[in-house]
Amino acid sequence: MKILVVGSGGREHAIVWKLCKSQRVSSIYCAPGNAGTAEIAQNVDISADDVEGLLGFAKEKGIDLTIVGPEVALVMGITDMFEAEGLKIFGPDKMCSRLEGSKAFSKEFMIRNNIPTGKYEEYTDFDEAVKNVDKFGYPIVIKADGLAAGKGVLIETERVEAVKDLENIMLSKVFGESGKKVVIEEFLSGIEASILCFVDGKTIVPMTSAQDYKKIFDDDMGPNTGGMGSYSPSMIYDEELSNRVEREILTPIIDGFKNEGMNFKGILFVGLMIGSEGPKVLEFNVRFGDPETQSVLTRLETDLVDIIESIIEGRLDQQEIKWSDKKTVCVGMASKGYPGMYEKGKEITGFDKVDSDVMVFHAGTRLEDGKVLTNGGRVLGVTAYGESIEEARNKAYENVRKIQFEGAQYRSDIGKIIGR
Ligand code: AMP
Ligand code: GLY
Repeated sequence: MKILVVGSGGREHAIVWKLCKSQRVSSIYCAPGNAGTAEIAQNVDISADDVEGLLGFAKEKGIDLTIVGPEVALVMGITDMFEAEGLKIFGPDKMCSRLEGSKAFSKEFMIRNNIPTGKYEEYTDFDEAVKNVDKFGYPIVIKADGLAAGKGVLIETERVEAVKDLENIMLSKVFGESGKKVVIEEFLSGIEASILCFVDGKTIVPMTSAQDYKKIFDDDMGPNTGGMGSYSPSMIYDEELSNRVEREILTPIIDGFKNEGMNFKGILFVGLMIGSEGPKVLEFNVRFGDPETQSVLTRLETDLVDIIESIIEGRLDQQEIKWSDKKTVCVGMASKGYPGMYEKGKEITGFDKVDSDVMVFHAGTRLEDGKVLTNGGRVLGVTAYGESIEEARNKAYENVRKIQFEGAQYRSDIGKIIGR
């Protein structure tokens, strides 16, 4: 099979890495990819949101299956376009992708289907939003309704700051049209867990659990990032909690899809906050999580192509899915200054010293004259196995220290339980 993977992050490198293990795959293209995917696939210079370009490429090369990493193309309707041309693609259609494309749509879906989530209100009028901003007390969570590249969620402890956020989002439009509407939401405390699920419209199968570390500094201090690391499985996600999530959240989701005529086929990422009142949904994403994928797919023993085909063909209920008992920890290495301003183009060295059983997934990297250079805020995800999380963590950090680039920063507590 010829496969096209869309995207250029650590998630896509991990997907390509996993596809390389499949007997069924003959060639892999990655658009646009990074220096890591270039080593094991063929990079194609088409951006992840250029759906016309991707469609043209898939037709020209006779691609048998396209796997979409990031949300933008899905929300734009890449799946509908490929399917209309008879091309096989993995990811939900435009209608289902609204679960990520609009936070208000996603909240309304949860309320209609009795899925536990924080209280919220949505506003399109700035004055109304300001008038009601204190309604749920502080801290308060303010979200731009549309896509904002992971930056559209703001948590404030004071009214002045919250009003400033509303001004920025609704009046100054710092997130563009994504901020035409805002969701103001009750702050939920607890420990987060990420449950990525395979969904074929009729059946929802959760993957092994993971935890993502969103803040830039240790102990969850500092601003939000796209994710500074992850580990799997989550230490708090035991059998009792897993059963409860199946019963209270996953079953209502799949029933909701059926009742509302949503033929969701792809990955549904359920972001959970586990607090004193039990698990509540923070958000849905309609694709693999980044950096969760790096610690989750490395534990998947089944051929990913088999699972994807079973989803596209609507027979996920008969598909076997096996997970390794080994644990994984993925430590993110970022550029100096990230998630604020940062420089690119720093040479990365030390790859040759990394242990052979450790995966260094690339995110913001590029190749130039045989050298690997930094090319983004999130640069690498060093992922290691262990019999325990602690063993995996020690191994990951040992290898992180072998890799160098100017200004490299990473958290030292990935794989430890952090909650609020
Ligand atoms: P998102 O961009 O939707 O993934 O949200 C980013 C992060 O913001 C989540 O992973 C949480 O850490 C945090 N977050 C979102 N909603 C809430 C909430 N209602 N209460 C507390 N934290 C939240
Ligand atoms: N790790 C969260 C996300 O992929 O949005």
